Amino acid sequence: MTVRMAAILAAVLSLFTAADAGFAQSQSAGLMNFNSAGDRLACSNRDSGTVTIVRWPEMTVVQEIPVGEHPEGVAWLGQSSLLACCVYGSDEVVVIDAATGQLVRRIEVFDEPYGVVSSRDGQRLYVTLEHPGQVIVLDVATGEQLHSWPVGPHLRGLAITTDEKSLLVTEYLTARVLSVDTRDGQILATWEGGSTDNLCRQVTISPSGNRAYLTHIRSRVTAAHGNGSIFPYVSVLRLTGEGAGTRLRVPMDTIRGTRVTANPWDCDVTPDGKSLCVVFAGTNDMYICRITGDDHVELDYQTGMQLGSNPRGVRCAPDGSAVVVYNALDFELVSFSLRDGRELRRVRVTENPLSEDMLLGKKLFYTALSPMTSRGWISCSSCHPDGDADGRTWQQPEGLRNTQPMAGLAWTHPLHWSADRDEVQDFEHTIRGRLMQGPGLLKGVLPEAMSEPITGRSAELDALAIYTNSHRVPLSPYSKQGLSESARRGREVFNSAETKCAVCHRGPFYTDSQPLGNDRLVRHDVGTGTSDSSELMGPEYDTPTLLGVYRSAPYLHHGRAATLMDVLTTENPNDRHGKTSHLTTSQREDLVEFLKALPWEDPERNREAAALLKITGAAGGGRGE
Ligand code: HEC
Ligand code: HEC
Repeated sequence: MTVRMAAILAAVLSLFTAADAGFAQSQSAGLMNFNSAGDRLACSNRDSGTVTIVRWPEMTVVQEIPVGEHPEGVAWLGQSSLLACCVYGSDEVVVIDAATGQLVRRIEVFDEPYGVVSSRDGQRLYVTLEHPGQVIVLDVATGEQLHSWPVGPHLRGLAITTDEKSLLVTEYLTARVLSVDTRDGQILATWEGGSTDNLCRQVTISPSGNRAYLTHIRSRVTAAHGNGSIFPYVSVLRLTGEGAGTRLRVPMDTIRGTRVTANPWDCDVTPDGKSLCVVFAGTNDMYICRITGDDHVELDYQTGMQLGSNPRGVRCAPDGSAVVVYNALDFELVSFSLRDGRELRRVRVTENPLSEDMLLGKKLFYTALSPMTSRGWISCSSCHPDGDADGRTWQQPEGLRNTQPMAGLAWTHPLHWSADRDEVQDFEHTIRGRLMQGPGLLKGVLPEAMSEPITGRSAELDALAIYTNSHRVPLSPYSKQGLSESARRGREVFNSAETKCAVCHRGPFYTDSQPLGNDRLVRHDVGTGTSDSSELMGPEYDTPTLLGVYRSAPYLHHGRAATLMDVLTTENPNDRHGKTSHLTTSQREDLVEFLKALPWEDPERNREAAALLKITGAAGGGRGE
């Protein structure tokens, strides 16, 4: 940052630190937020890599500012015109002056910043890092990281209490909520989720400060079928008063008779504390629920409205007149009157940066409506949110199957642990099958997955494949400065003739799995196929890529290895998965360090990767997810 920029930043902040009026509310991280004066609204645009500032209540765009790859949470700094944004893909928290559109500071963080809130004086930022699961505290004026607290795995949601003494933090893959002391990072209280709770992105505190609300799903992994595996929920936490410390789950698929909704993504409480607005990114609708205050019910369905494509954010205007939703795949904000539900205004916040096919494919991937399903509970994104894994191992008819991340998918065909699909278009079997029970995207007879290709037979299926194949592999945060000494030693072990790791995990994507069509389907029995009695397709499996394994636990097709060390030790008792028994403890640790460092350079830039892509013909057009 230039000296001039630093001076601007200090000046803007000092203007506002003296005044301490207003802003007497708790604050929740979100991809959309109002400023404290209530005359500006900011939202992050994940696909465009920008933040847009909108005038309120006119809903006209003031600025659109490029910030980096996959921005997520935004927070206004106290009462200033400054705004912080977590740039999830670029590992940065950026500070923007919304008045001028200038980017005044970039603060590099370890990995995956998701949620952000500011202290009331705007001097400090609290940020959740999904990986490696930390809350960090940043000093805005200096850009210094003051603290990093290892609160729990996969942190996303974040809110700060009115007295600023504590933060509420959510774990994405368990919906567990922790209260964290803002002075020292100590955990003050925990609200456990249910064993099946999953995908909890945000938490919001009621104006009175006595309740917190969070949206999430439940993934019942023992029943992989369309009407009994994934359910939409709002959890209500009692923060103070009677029942403090307890938690109640409200099912969002029965709150309005038998009408089903999917993928609740965000919620917000109206300023009078009487209603909760919940948006559903799978069924494209919003419910407004009455907060009953009744300890047994907590929420009642009040009214609802149909939204655009993939609503991911909702915020109530501070004056209580309206609610605004962010339709992520329509790239727009829409405001509705809270008095009569009428649509007030609609504004496009960014141009669609995706190709036509990519956008269509992405919409199909995120929707739980027909023709993808007939039941309304599940979309592809319920298990593969933004192309990541859901951290779950599902009981499929063929055995236990851990959800794979989609990073690098275009280069790692064939698909599935058992390599029983050779193109994403084959997921028409998933769409029509018991899991999704949809009418499907293909007309006529659906051939067996491994027989003739169906690419080119349905524009929708091809679009779904283009989006699904578009996920890039993020660089490992563990090798930003290159390979560590330990990782270098681990690389020697990995490449050694004794361990043989590199025999199967080879090439730019660390896999020898071959695309079909050339009679070279390669699968290996590495001794992992006998421990699951429900297994019907083992014991040979497709060699998975090792890129990105630093963040994709649990491991192996059955998800029984909780850590990378387990893959090498407890899950490899007979040296059938490479030879590891002869390694010393420190050699194994080095090997794990090497695995965690993958990839340290962009694998797609490799010439071999380009050649592979030609073989699979799998890459989509347009810009990646
Ligand atoms: C209930 C959760 C769930 C849903 C819903 C779901 N998947 Fe999956 N997906 C999984 C699991 C579990 C695996 C691993 C299965 C296996 O390998 O046999 C997987 C694997 C995949 C893979 C292979 C990844 C690889 O590296 O080989 C692709 C591609 C995929 N899914 C696409 C989709 C698409 C497209 C949809 C929607 C039509 C979808 N999935 C719906 C759970 C789900
Ligand atoms: C004979 C081929 C082969 C060799 C040799 C081999 N692997 Fe594997 N690897 C596989 C296969 C196949 C799987 C999937 C097995 C399963 O899921 O049950 C796998 C899975 C893995 C996984 C889990 C990845 C995930 O996403 O869950 C890791 C990590 C791994 N191997 C590391 C290694 C290391 C380190 C070595 C050397 C000590 C090694 N492998 C040697 C074929 C091999």
